[in-house]
Amino acid sequence: MSLFATDRKTDPGYLDAAANGRGDEKALLPHRALRRTGTTRPHLVEIGPGGGAAVTALATALRGQDRRVDLTLIEVPGVVSDSLNRAMEGFSDVGSCTLLRGHANGIDRLLDRPAHIISASALLHEVYSYGGGYAGIHAFMRTLPAVLTEGGFFAYRDVYAVGGPSLHERVTHAYDSPAWLQFIRLFAPRYLSEGIHPYHHAQDELVARQDSAIVAVGELDRRTCAVVRAPVGLLREIQRHYITFRDHAWRSGALGFVPVLDGQPAADWLDTASGHKRVHYTLTGADWLPRSQRAMLLAVSEPYADHYVVDGDIFDECTDIALAAFLTAAERGDTACAKVWEAWATREGRETYAYLTLDELITAVAVHSADAAREHPSVLLPAQDGDIVLRRRGYYNRYLAKRLANPLTDAKQMVLFSHIDTADSEKLGQALAAIRGTCGKHSLARVYAALTPGG
Ligand SMILES: C[S@@+](CC[C@H](N)C(=O)[O-])C[C@H]1O[C@@H](n2cnc3c(N)ncnc32)[C@H](O)[C@@H]1O
Repeated sequence: MSLFATDRKTDPGYLDAAANGRGDEKALLPHRALRRTGTTRPHLVEIGPGGGAAVTALATALRGQDRRVDLTLIEVPGVVSDSLNRAMEGFSDVGSCTLLRGHANGIDRLLDRPAHIISASALLHEVYSYGGGYAGIHAFMRTLPAVLTEGGFFAYRDVYAVGGPSLHERVTHAYDSPAWLQFIRLFAPRYLSEGIHPYHHAQDELVARQDSAIVAVGELDRRTCAVVRAPVGLLREIQRHYITFRDHAWRSGALGFVPVLDGQPAADWLDTASGHKRVHYTLTGADWLPRSQRAMLLAVSEPYADHYVVDGDIFDECTDIALAAFLTAAERGDTACAKVWEAWATREGRETYAYLTLDELITAVAVHSADAAREHPSVLLPAQDGDIVLRRRGYYNRYLAKRLANPLTDAKQMVLFSHIDTADSEKLGQALAAIRGTCGKHSLARVYAALTPGG
């Protein structure tokens, strides 16, 4: 297993703040599964609860109901979170809550009884990145039938990959934003050499051109438009990492302004449908930026209580200008900027967020669960149309559409898998119908072959 350095992820600011919003979305599928579970005292297992956003949202959703829920949390040894502790206390109103220490791939040894529901939000990309790549996530999928009750559920949520069937499809994208060019120049060579990712085949090479000449990606000129040909999954990875780095740079205070990223002020929409919002922010004491940048931001903002508010599009524009300057300073060795960059690159910059498209994910879970459940033949598949969910990120997509010639959709992909007895032909038929709109014919054939071993 490759290193999952707990100190990378246990910075109190990380689990408690950086990754702890959107509890309602994180609790959506486990809550739906609870409603579909007939038993009087369901056993729900959440793997990798982080700061406990889903635990709190579930406690709120379950309050006032007669039925109590036994919640077991599984977290990597050494990872601690104050907000998780508070969330666990809050859960005692609606049931019991126990924290076990271990890894996703050891759940069969950790749990003393099967679960009615297993929930994993933003976990599989970590298992992929730190727990053995595809072998790690496939092993996890094979464990599921043994730890789920018959008729149980696996609630999956993670970063949306891309719409196509494969992450390796070669596409051509153009970049002309200095901040993006500078980011790609710093990020891509390091991710490709140090990250765990699937882009090793001859057909996966990233080829960048500027002024029609091929340029090494680490030597991109940030003042010249670049045309990049690469697997779509790799370009999705670059896009996703830019967004997480932008968040990190904001939160660090190094850009000179920090937006409010969670809670009510983060949802000050001017037009939700188009992702247009006002951004609330405070100024910090960062002093390496030219004074004109701060003056510019203030000139387009309004004072609001103890902070400022500005149109989101203008805020994004100012952020990109500051980020370009910040990344250039980091590359030149400015100590403060290099430290913020290094902290992010070490903690998140090697992760792979998009490891399977929805088609590949559903197929992999079905095939590996069916493979593992030979004694009592069963399979994990979404049982109804609505069990495959895509939640788009309006604000990010608006920004990406403004900044990139070829933006890829930013969203979360969620699937509620049901543990189905393969002898139940009616349920199986419904499940195969439910995945037809998402899985291509080759994938359907693979699932069918896995369900009928030996022909
Ligand atoms: C990106 S955070 C997501 C937290 C939370 N589920 C959410 O959606 O906000 C990943 C979580 O999974 C945990 N984790 C990472 N690898 C794990 C593994 N192999 N087994 C169990 N937990 C793991 C991390 O410590 C962290 O709590």
